[in-house]
Amino acid sequence: MSQPPRNRPPRKPHRDDPRPASDAPRRPARAGWEPLADWYDGWMGGKDGSKHHVRLAMPHAASLLELQAGEHLIDIGCGQGVFAPTALAAEARYTGVDISPSLLELARQRHPKPALFLHGDACRLEFTDGLKPHSYDAALFLLSIQDIDPLDSAVRGASWALKKGGRVVFVMTHPAFRIPRQSGWGRDEGRKLTYRRIDRYLTPLSIPMKPYPGQSGVSISFHRPISAYVNTLGEYGLLIEAMREITSFKADDPEHDNPAEKDIPLFLALRARKV
Ligand SMILES: C[S@@+](CC[C@H](N)C(=O)[O-])C[C@H]1O[C@@H](n2cnc3c(N)ncnc32)[C@H](O)[C@@H]1O
Repeated sequence: MSQPPRNRPPRKPHRDDPRPASDAPRRPARAGWEPLADWYDGWMGGKDGSKHHVRLAMPHAASLLELQAGEHLIDIGCGQGVFAPTALAAEARYTGVDISPSLLELARQRHPKPALFLHGDACRLEFTDGLKPHSYDAALFLLSIQDIDPLDSAVRGASWALKKGGRVVFVMTHPAFRIPRQSGWGRDEGRKLTYRRIDRYLTPLSIPMKPYPGQSGVSISFHRPISAYVNTLGEYGLLIEAMREITSFKADDPEHDNPAEKDIPLFLALRARKV
């Protein structure tokens, strides 16, 4: 009789496997942005969202999602629900999921029914009360994927939630050019130009963010190279069909006077479809 192989590698779940990813059972409960909830709400300017949301992130998310009336969106890492009005205006159904109870509380106060907000971990989406597999037309990670770790479990959860043919949209800080603490602007006086310095790129990093004035806690940003996103999406049957590299609105503001802002993007947005 053959013996089972020793040192078998941990099970890699199939993309439609309803069981959690191998790290899920021992995953500690994480607070997400719970300690930062009050500060984040203030930075967002309350209900409507920050300038970055209003001018860049949300319009690009909406145009990539192309929500149709009657479709159902799951917004993963929804925070205080800033995208809910955009989804409801398209006559879509909206379910937001976040791990921070305080941000969810704000979301529920600001965006009452029919918007629905659920407490859950993006990396263990299968265990969130109120979610069903293969039942969403679209999924969104709006400036949240770089706050969520591991990437593999988060992408797997999105694939689990989506119907076949459904799409997932990510809007994130550009992983090639805007790596926290590992990139920045520099000035080359000889060539009279402003350049972007990149110190690290290929190595995945967990980066404690510099706190803003008045911030009550520290958030961690998870840096991964673009290949990590492309390959993880592919592993879970999510094929990329659109990619946008979005410059800052500072590019059009003469006060900032940095021509490189026009050519070096701030955000990366991706749309992938479940095949
Ligand atoms: C930068 S905020 C973005 C929130 C919202 N999408 C927006 O654009 O305002 C990142 C969000 O991800 C949430 N988050 C972090 N880790 C999470 C996890 N494992 N599961 C669910 N949400 C998580 C945080 O609580 C926080 O609300």
